[in-house]
Amino acid sequence: MANILEVKNLKVYYPIKGGLMGRTIGHVKAVDDISFAIGEGETVGLVGESGCGKSTTGKAILGLVKIHSGQIVFNGEDITKYIGKNRSPYRKNVQMIFQDVYSSMNPKERVLDIIAEPLRNFEKLTKVEERKKVEELLSIVGLSSSNILKYPHQFSGGQRQRIGIARALALKPKLIVCDEPVSALDLSVQAQVLNYLKDIQEEFGIAYLFISHDLGVVEYMCKNLMVMHKSRFVEKGTEDTIYKNPVHIYTKRLMAATPDLDTKNRQKNAEIRKKIAEEYENSKSRYYKEDGTVYDLKKLSEEHYVAMP
Ligand SMILES: Nc1ncnc2c1ncn2[C@@H]1O[C@H](COP(=O)(O)OP(=O)(O)OP(=O)(O)O)[C@@H](O)[C@H]1O
Ligand SMILES: [Mg+2]
Repeated sequence: MANILEVKNLKVYYPIKGGLMGRTIGHVKAVDDISFAIGEGETVGLVGESGCGKSTTGKAILGLVKIHSGQIVFNGEDITKYIGKNRSPYRKNVQMIFQDVYSSMNPKERVLDIIAEPLRNFEKLTKVEERKKVEELLSIVGLSSSNILKYPHQFSGGQRQRIGIARALALKPKLIVCDEPVSALDLSVQAQVLNYLKDIQEEFGIAYLFISHDLGVVEYMCKNLMVMHKSRFVEKGTEDTIYKNPVHIYTKRLMAATPDLDTKNRQKNAEIRKKIAEEYENSKSRYYKEDGTVYDLKKLSEEHYVAMP
């Protein structure tokens, strides 16, 4: 399987402004040297706690933030040069479902305009063709075409998320960065939206970078997983390696913290969590450098990498 995306040694530093002149007085290293690849039509999960750099990674791929250094190769082409140029051919093929869908929509625009926006940027359709296309997209995400003239506030959270998905699908992209696409939804709607994503992936062969802080959701969606902590990857692997045999203490903690809906396991899980909390206290110096930062990834096997000395 060919790679649709390769990210090489990506670093994104946000400037910290200060002083009377608003000069840059330092940097937040939001993403600090990460590398990964996504195969065509494949889903790769990115998990980690709040603030570890997940959305920044996604935005860097979309060209929405300035990168400090590194390379982004899409479909074999170094696209770093396009970054900041919205209408590049690259942007047609890569879309994002935003973490905060509501704020990514203009409240004064109707569903028709919201979903048609990428079409207007890239395809010259007549009004009639455009409307037909938007109706088709709505039906793909399970919304009736009678919604086309409504405004975002007239929908539930789950429906809005689906509008965001329809917009991301409009140009049949090859890659969609899904940033916490279901975190704001309740469980029953979560499953619905996740299943839509799977269905359309199968139908259109789309690859996903699937970002979530919820390991359960990621496990449902992805065989391949990257665990991010403190702006770097602490572990990378597959279903058979990382899920079954996590090696980094941070991955273990993350897995132990995932709630198990089966009440029978609660007692057992509480014990596991306690054991891992102890292990963490006793051994964290083995897993982090002296200054608390994360080591470079080391290869354990073809499909399993962990950040250890
Ligand atoms: N525009 C910005 N300017 C300055 N710092 C930023 C900006 N956006 C994010 N950051 C900082 O960069 C770091 C990574 O943020 P990011 O949004 O990528 O985290 P995240 O993993 O997506 O978190 P969450 O799970 O809460 O969405 C954080 O420390 C955050 O405060
Ligand atoms: Mg985020």
